[in-house]
Amino acid sequence: MERLFLTTAIDYANARPHLGHAYEKVLTDALARFARRRGEDVRFLSGLDEHGQKVQQSAGKAGKSPQEFVDDISVHFLGLWRDLRVEPDDYLRTTEVRHKKLVQEVLSLLYEKGDIIRGTFQGFYSVRAEQFLTEKERLPDGSWPEIYGEVVELTEENYFFKLSKYQDWLRELLQKQPSLIFPEFRSKEVLGALEKPLPDLCISRPKARLAWGIPLPFDETQVTYVWFDALLNYVTGAGSGQGRIGEWSPAVHVIGKDILVPAHGIYWPCMLKALGLPLFKKLLVHGFWTRKSEKLSKSTGNIVDPRELAEKYGADSFRYYVLREMALGHDADFDEESLAARRKGELAHELGNLLQRAGSMIGRYRDGKIPAAAQPDAMSEAFRATVLGALKKWDELMQKYQIHLALGELWKGVQAGNQMIEARAPWKLAKDPAKSAELDATLADAMAVLELVLEEVECVIPRTASAGLIQLGLPGKVTRRPADWPQWPAHQAGRVLGSIEPLFPLLEDEKPKSS
Ligand code: ME8
Ligand code: MG
Repeated sequence: MERLFLTTAIDYANARPHLGHAYEKVLTDALARFARRRGEDVRFLSGLDEHGQKVQQSAGKAGKSPQEFVDDISVHFLGLWRDLRVEPDDYLRTTEVRHKKLVQEVLSLLYEKGDIIRGTFQGFYSVRAEQFLTEKERLPDGSWPEIYGEVVELTEENYFFKLSKYQDWLRELLQKQPSLIFPEFRSKEVLGALEKPLPDLCISRPKARLAWGIPLPFDETQVTYVWFDALLNYVTGAGSGQGRIGEWSPAVHVIGKDILVPAHGIYWPCMLKALGLPLFKKLLVHGFWTRKSEKLSKSTGNIVDPRELAEKYGADSFRYYVLREMALGHDADFDEESLAARRKGELAHELGNLLQRAGSMIGRYRDGKIPAAAQPDAMSEAFRATVLGALKKWDELMQKYQIHLALGELWKGVQAGNQMIEARAPWKLAKDPAKSAELDATLADAMAVLELVLEEVECVIPRTASAGLIQLGLPGKVTRRPADWPQWPAHQAGRVLGSIEPLFPLLEDEKPKSS
């Protein structure tokens, strides 16, 4: 059985979750479920990034201790994952003891090896924001934005990780294996950043300035700074999740495009190399959600609350929308009307209706039991070939991370089901005893396509799929595919359907108004 260690970025615990966080976790959850369905042995890890300046500051503003603050924030993240049915095997918070121990063990190891050294850090420091600023923050005229107040040039003693030692190794590796990054074009961004000599990475801060971090085991006056803490979550959470270095197994890391260069594309492979651990399998880099083509941002009020959307439209509609709308690796624009339209069209009208119509006709004409289909006629043969073809394309595209297109293929099966019903008009066949076998075939074929589609689409819309399968008289739990997948279901005849209910009921504002 193939092993898959699948991780998400760990979200900063300095504010509540937003659409970008929700998309990434839904995406990874869908990939994990899909891989399980294919029979892979999956470990799905997610978590929260709880240390650092921003958390310390946000906690201060809220009048809480940093630990209280992240404990409260974690409730919002965990609540969202429960609502969205994002179900990781392990959820790691970086303030947990298992993680602190691991980070310290790694720091000691690299310090002894000579890969971490003491040095001087020089930079521009904002006294008001209590942080070093980077050149990115500088205004075109060379001054610093108003919000930073007085900015002074500051020198301090810190510790550095010798990134430069691993630069040539990494460059050669990426040149040979650009497919380590998906989409592949992003490996050029990393290679571009490797053209100039890499400065060593500053990995600590004096406790006097930043108290909220993991102390360095070899210098108690300093704490670990940001990436050296955050990236190591993947090692702590590997294997049994007990924070043993030896349990690291090469992962597929799902991340957003803003944390590829330099964090995951440069720091992380160099850290793994320095530790003598095998490289990750892949960096799966998704794009950014915008709204009205603008950045989602608290300060401009351009925000989208995933929890509200899940409540209004249902978690599965939200999951379906984000995965159907965004081409993995590219940016997408969020549009609530388009979410509502996909729910109403593809989910309620196409998928939901197929089950509703065919299921109620089985109730009406066949006593609620799936009839046995006779030898398929030409129309049935063609229909089955279309559906099996769509399933194969779905599978191929999913394996290539083309989820939005994969869903389009799967829906061709659903659409074929509705067209077949239209074409055969079972309500007419039911009136003619001579057409009884054709009626049986029509109803059985409709049940079969639903079974095949619902089992696959479980990774995207888990609760609906499970409810739909129960309506089909099957267990609601999806298991791994049989070896000969995809095959036309052979054992449905005589199965009693569950009670047929709309999978996507009308929303309040879609209901006909009674005047
Ligand atoms: O970067 N659209 O945390 P984070 C899509 N703690 N994805 C988005 C997005 C958007 N508009 N905004 C953010 C961090 N993301 C670090 C990660 S991993 C060892 C440490 C994605 O809360 C972002 O790209 O700022 C990242 O993958 C994730 O959300 C968490 O972002
Ligand atoms: Mg961010």
